[in-house]
Amino acid sequence: MLKYILAGIISYLIGSISSAHLICKKYYGIDIRKYGSGNPGATNVFRVVGGRAAVAVYAADFLKGFLVAALAKLIGGDTLALFSGLFVIVGHDWSLFLNFNGGKGIATSMGVVIALAPKAALFSFMVGAAAILLTRYVSLGSVVGSAFFPLFLVIFRYPAKYIAYGVIIAAIAIYRHRTNIKRLIAGKEHKLGEKIRP
Ligand code: G3P
Repeated sequence: MLKYILAGIISYLIGSISSAHLICKKYYGIDIRKYGSGNPGATNVFRVVGGRAAVAVYAADFLKGFLVAALAKLIGGDTLALFSGLFVIVGHDWSLFLNFNGGKGIATSMGVVIALAPKAALFSFMVGAAAILLTRYVSLGSVVGSAFFPLFLVIFRYPAKYIAYGVIIAAIAIYRHRTNIKRLIAGKEHKLGEKIRP
């Protein structure tokens, strides 16, 4: 029990560290939450600041998910890894350091699921990437890729707890994209490549 409480707290705190917020503040002197979609994530950093910073943000957000899940798996096995992975995503999305707001969790979730269910993660990544390439809406790719993740877990016969987990991860990702979904429906969503400079 203590192991889970500690893992939950540590994972949440690691997840709460927002690379987008820190990089944009330190190197560009801006609060990324005030520009573009307002999301402290790689897509918005690309839109507002540029490619180099966006790659750094994606890598940092991916790595925090991957390392937390992989380490937890080494230390405590599957269940601790799933639990810690969930808390690092929750920390990213509802950060202690950003007034319990945060990102949309796609890069961090990707890191977690690559560590825990790589085959299903890669297939859903490919579906999401295809949706982005076809439409140039990153948010649509994120939502579609997330929705396909539990389906691929079923197709590749992962255990039931993984499938339940996939549903939770997908539901969180879709919930965090609710304003994007509204913009997509209204035809007002930003397309990949659109620049909004501070
Ligand atoms: O992962 C976030 C992406 O799907 C949407 O980002 O900035 O367009 O809201 P953004």
